[in-house]
Amino acid sequence: MRDSYEVGLARPTLHHFRDSASLDYLKFWAECAEKISWFSQFERVLDWNPPFAKWFVGGTTNACYNAVDRHQEHCASKMAIVWEAEDGTCRNITYGDLYGQVQRFANVLKSLGVKSGDRITIYLPMVPELAVAMLGCSRIGAVHTVIFSGFSAASVRERIMDSGSKVVVTADGGYRRGGIIDLKGTVDEALSGLGSSVEHVVVLQRTSHAVKMSSPRDKYWHDLMSAADEVCPVVPVDSSHPLFILYTSGTTGRPKGVLHGTGGYLTHVYSTFRWAFGATTDDVYFCTADIGWVTGHSYVVYAPLMHGITSVMYEGAPDHPDNLRMWRMLKDHAVTIFYTTPTLLRMLMKFDDYSLPLGLDTLRLLGTVGEPINPEVWKWYFTRVGQSRCPIIDTWWQTETGGMIISALPGLEKIPLKPGSATRPIPGVELDVLDDDGQPVKPDTRGHLVIRKPWPGMLLTLWGNDSRYRDAYWTRYPRYYHSGDYARIDEDGYIWLLGRADDILKVAGHRIGTAELEGCAVSHPDIAESAVCSIPDEIKGESIVVFVVLRSGTTRNQKDLAGEISQKIRDEIGAIAAPGRVYVVPRLPKTRSGKIMRRLLKSIAAGEEVGDTSTLEDADTIDDIMTSLVGSD
Ligand code: WTA
Repeated sequence: MRDSYEVGLARPTLHHFRDSASLDYLKFWAECAEKISWFSQFERVLDWNPPFAKWFVGGTTNACYNAVDRHQEHCASKMAIVWEAEDGTCRNITYGDLYGQVQRFANVLKSLGVKSGDRITIYLPMVPELAVAMLGCSRIGAVHTVIFSGFSAASVRERIMDSGSKVVVTADGGYRRGGIIDLKGTVDEALSGLGSSVEHVVVLQRTSHAVKMSSPRDKYWHDLMSAADEVCPVVPVDSSHPLFILYTSGTTGRPKGVLHGTGGYLTHVYSTFRWAFGATTDDVYFCTADIGWVTGHSYVVYAPLMHGITSVMYEGAPDHPDNLRMWRMLKDHAVTIFYTTPTLLRMLMKFDDYSLPLGLDTLRLLGTVGEPINPEVWKWYFTRVGQSRCPIIDTWWQTETGGMIISALPGLEKIPLKPGSATRPIPGVELDVLDDDGQPVKPDTRGHLVIRKPWPGMLLTLWGNDSRYRDAYWTRYPRYYHSGDYARIDEDGYIWLLGRADDILKVAGHRIGTAELEGCAVSHPDIAESAVCSIPDEIKGESIVVFVVLRSGTTRNQKDLAGEISQKIRDEIGAIAAPGRVYVVPRLPKTRSGKIMRRLLKSIAAGEEVGDTSTLEDADTIDDIMTSLVGSD
């Protein structure tokens, strides 16, 4: 197998694009911003008051206008969303339909007293109404905060409280693997006894699942929509006006409310979508991400709609009713661009039956996001799915970056691809890989990935917590954005992402903080201490392992306790955080200063050589843990 892949969609006219980006960075981003629609032109490209950036100062724009209104004149009848339900039924939504629906929904919000700047929690399954709700918010300057439908009542509650949402939009249920997820019940539980800010709950009927409607708080989506006027003028907002809050895991306790603005964010996602996918109006694009995560915000909702292309959106589980579901969808909808996660690819690869003709002839470009892709999976994706003719873009970015930061850009230039490397930063972004002292590392040496200058899609701050924002990203290396990822740069300048350098796990591409899991485990009355790590998992990339130490005097059966901890994590965080293993151990390995050595626990859990234990406070700890594990499976 060759180890360099050169397939591209280069546009030679854009050859010197990168040079201009490094030469005049502000001019470059200003030119990018001119591709989106503004109501009033910006006066300055950037106000940089570290670590706070304001992009396109003085400009006013609107995200909904850019995604929907601006297509009405020429392509109102074009398909915006081709939605496939889990049971296989489809709904086609044109740009014209979307225009009508977002205006109605914006009027619904207004009728509920929502004003510009108010926060709206959206807890919906993957249905087109989720995009309608987001766009309805942005149309009137309200700030949406979408919660992934797999999160538990406690997680929903925490996010509603932190954001101070006035309205919650949910559904009577969502379909997943043939079953129904009780979303409204979860919202009821989240709001119960909460003297919260929530005045209204809007309930979409998606299933026939019975729900309890509490008057006057709860109202049905369809009742409100049919009573709403179908014309709602767009509200021009300042470029830095908040567009959304998206909660994500950090290294300490509570999730962080990543706050994104409007003009910079739209410029970033619009530009990167164009460079990465080189999408034309004939493309049919399918991104499998759930809108509850940042990939769904940027590359299911905003960027593809801004480009006026047709997106396929899928409601359910990718392996339902069988493992061929994704292939059938690609074929049935004649998908040309497929953007997915390494976890899904690993699952599909495992079930790949080489006798099956895939017939995915329409595909022209493939992408991955969210976690490192193993070279062997990359090669399988390239040869089997892309039939050795479609470039693969491995896109590295984060909730905080708003859009892609490192990726091959076949819509812009043709470069050789290396399986497992995300290649190079996008134009207009400068990266570095630093050692612990802040010095750039030598080629091919592991270090910390930092971004050296602000970029348009950069988060504004953490919602209501400027100091946590500064501490989390700008303190470790002052002046540089600290990504929290390890990386190395090879001799050719290609970047290889090497996983998180901190206590954040990536399980099936979902970002989960060990601190959240540990906090949940120790809130069990019989648990004194907990440490969480992950071990490699063939499909999910990482699998969660929880170690707990019992409170003295506890005589509970260890197996029962392990089960309870697992259940508690599912209940309090969500099924996505369910541990693969829970081990009850006599104590945790600690340094002399009391720091838990998760590295050692990771080796123990993975059945590897434990390595250097010289910094342990008590060298016998490892033996004690090992002995306790024997027979605990
Ligand atoms: C990881 C997802 C390797 C990384 C868009 C980052 C990746 C975290 C890649 C952010 C990639 C994302 N290769 N690792 N192509 N893309 N990551 O906020 O550790 O859910 O810091 O955003 O995912 O996860 P988040």
